Amino acid sequence: MLWIKALHIVFVASWFAGLFYLPRIFVNLAMEKDATATERLILMARKLYRFMSLLMIPALIFGLWLWLGYGIGKGPGNAWMHAKLAIVVLLVGYHHGCGVLLKKFERGENKRSHTWYRWFNEVPVIGLLAAVVLVVVKPF
Ligand code: HEM
Repeated sequence: MLWIKALHIVFVASWFAGLFYLPRIFVNLAMEKDATATERLILMARKLYRFMSLLMIPALIFGLWLWLGYGIGKGPGNAWMHAKLAIVVLLVGYHHGCGVLLKKFERGENKRSHTWYRWFNEVPVIGLLAAVVLVVVKPF
């Protein structure tokens, strides 16, 4: 079980590296005026989105394995697990949202400001904090 938990944490951390960095690229893209620089940033964003999508899958599979396979967090008295799963669903939605925004940049249709993307970039920070506190402290 500890090997599965270790792999879960490694892939969660790797997925979050992408969730933190991709919106940062969007901040730069929203400010960028030079066509060549914009093209390079879009290429970086596309490659990063593909890679972080690959990392998200094992992060979730190992989490589900701990929950459904080993029964950790199953049954009554584990509201922390339900709250954590709600946050995971929001994080997967955020991940997908990054894909939609990337497509808008690729089509040159982005209308949002770099300030909007700076706030957008804070969402995974709050998500990580909440999910880790729920799973480590298990407050309810
Ligand atoms: C489908 C999604 C997920 C499921 C079903 C899941 C389930 C679990 C379970 C059952 C454990 C073991 C808890 C324990 O041993 O007390 C665990 C550990 C952990 N999970 Fe997840 N998880 C998921 C996604 C995530 C995400 C997205 C994060 C980070 C934001 C995360 C962070 C952690 C951490 C840090 C631990 C280690 C906690 C410890 O060792 O005390 N998990 N997860």
